[in-house]
Amino acid sequence: MVEAIQEQAAKYIHTSFNVVTYEPYIQLCEELTEIVPHGDNTKVMLVSTGAEAVENAIKIARQATKRQGILCFTGAFHGRTMMSMSLTSKVDYKIGCGPFAPEVYRLPFPNYYRYGGDNTLDQFVDLELKRLREAFKNMIAPSNLAAIIIELVQGEGGFTVTPQKYVEGLRSICDEYDIILIFDEIQSGFSRTGQWASWQNYNVTPDISTYAKSLGSGMPIAAIVGKADIMDAAAPGTIGGTYIGNPVSCAAALATIQLIKDQNLNERGTYIGKVTRNRFDCIQKKCPQIGDVRGLGAMMAIEFVKNNDPRQPDAELCTSIIKACYNRGLILLSAGTYKNVIRILSPLVISDELLEKGLTILEEEIIKACNN
Ligand SMILES: Cc1ncc(COP(=O)(O)O)c(C=O)c1O
Repeated sequence: MVEAIQEQAAKYIHTSFNVVTYEPYIQLCEELTEIVPHGDNTKVMLVSTGAEAVENAIKIARQATKRQGILCFTGAFHGRTMMSMSLTSKVDYKIGCGPFAPEVYRLPFPNYYRYGGDNTLDQFVDLELKRLREAFKNMIAPSNLAAIIIELVQGEGGFTVTPQKYVEGLRSICDEYDIILIFDEIQSGFSRTGQWASWQNYNVTPDISTYAKSLGSGMPIAAIVGKADIMDAAAPGTIGGTYIGNPVSCAAALATIQLIKDQNLNERGTYIGKVTRNRFDCIQKKCPQIGDVRGLGAMMAIEFVKNNDPRQPDAELCTSIIKACYNRGLILLSAGTYKNVIRILSPLVISDELLEKGLTILEEEIIKACNN
């Protein structure tokens, strides 16, 4: 990684792709069309941050459909620029920043653990898809809806995983009404779920998808990937920017993709997820305060609730565990609307020993806190 960055920095750091094209940008786009193809013809645009990728995905969807409405979900996090913040759900992230972008509509995320009640998963998904169709009567006409944007595994939302049947339902509804389906893969992309993109676990292809974070191993780079005819709808001048797809960041992303291939990190993500899930399942048996163990691949999480009730989040317990782990050198991030979820975002190059050490600290502190 460092070598790739140094080598590119020694050649040239900046030309602005709008002015002079350069090889690392083209190479990275070609690579992305191969690893996350959107049908037969895929095109890619590179930018610098996740929020910027979301902004551009929305602009492209609007231009392609000539419609304005965007449908998003509760629990969603799409960034902190004005449109992406408007799409973000959690109020704490938005305090004092409005007014927000218009033509944003929101439905409850199909969170089976929290809202499933006595329904089977199938029944729950049917009801949620019915709710979506009803929204076309009482919220926004499908003929005004440019796109539906969703994280298949919500990141900040607490690693809630979209049910398979719901994703299939979204795809067929979008096909029926010519609505663009956008998957935000900024947190879930690049091996975190055992695939290049989490949607590859579902066998459902989006029209547009967005990537950042792991794509550049920490360097500022993000991508909008889409079906070519949709991407081509963007009029000249409406997308772009001084720093889009910076050459040094492109080199970092190319090196990252090579490293993921060489070290088989997609498989590694699946393995880390299995080890973590097994451990969490064991801890859950000892701690009734753990209401849910969930995730996809290495994106694993545990949710703390009171009285075994999915609707009584226990943020206090969650925070005390995070603090206790921090005091022992284990840095954890909370997640979820109520901050009652611990999510695991370990590096995928973590050694077995270090993973074991981290999980052991976490297990000991959870058990201590739950028995307090
Ligand atoms: C799913 C998702 N979308 C968008 C973003 C925004 O990315 P960035 O912080 O690079 O703007 C994030 C960041 O956490 C994210 O998790």
